[in-house]
Amino acid sequence: MKNTLIAPSVLAADFANLQRDIEMINQSQADWFHIDIMDGVFVPNISFGMPVLDSIRKHAQKPLDVHLMIIDPDRYIKTFAQLGASVLTVHYEACTHLHRTLQAIKAEGMLAGVALNPHTSVGLLEDVIRDIDLVCLMSVNPGFGGQSFIENTYSKVAKLKEMIVKHNAPSRIEIDGGVTQHNAAQLVAAGADVLVAGSFIFNASQPIETIAQLKALPTP
Ligand code: DX5
Ligand code: ZN
Repeated sequence: MKNTLIAPSVLAADFANLQRDIEMINQSQADWFHIDIMDGVFVPNISFGMPVLDSIRKHAQKPLDVHLMIIDPDRYIKTFAQLGASVLTVHYEACTHLHRTLQAIKAEGMLAGVALNPHTSVGLLEDVIRDIDLVCLMSVNPGFGGQSFIENTYSKVAKLKEMIVKHNAPSRIEIDGGVTQHNAAQLVAAGADVLVAGSFIFNASQPIETIAQLKALPTP
């Protein structure tokens, strides 16, 4: 049985109690910290940047899964490696030379991820899938936490899974946006390997228990 990874999104944490919320994730069954970096250009929101990530990593005891929602991400690959990112995900829509960007991420010793906006077809990854460690399917339009899950994501997971198997690619499938108890089981059943969840975890009355419930979902 495979092991679904759970990546709480720090975007939904209480930034005035960030250390407390990081400790909660440390003590939970979560696998990764999901870190959303937004530039106010690629997406219509600005989240937080390097100084905050530097503080997070001093307390985080699990790998940092960094999701760059920024234009021209090549400029910052080395910076995020130095800040301790284990996974660095760039947006397909923000990369002119995606293959080159993926090699640059790997050259810095990180796993290379590609995120697809809801409108972007998984078929566009066919010629590069073997170079991708993680495909992040956005199940909301990126930029904000707390949005509603887009149902079309299920069929994208199925298509992507088929492509990964066909090419014997190493890629994990991550789902990001609007993940809750209403869709998590079906996503895992369809082939999702990593579930990102922000508001579902941090707004829960028992976040550690909520993470445990996601972790316990039956896998195919
Ligand atoms: C959206 C971010 C997500 C977000 C998820 O742009 O990439 O990671 O924090 O938050 P929820 O789970 O609340 O949709
Ligand atoms: Zn994200």
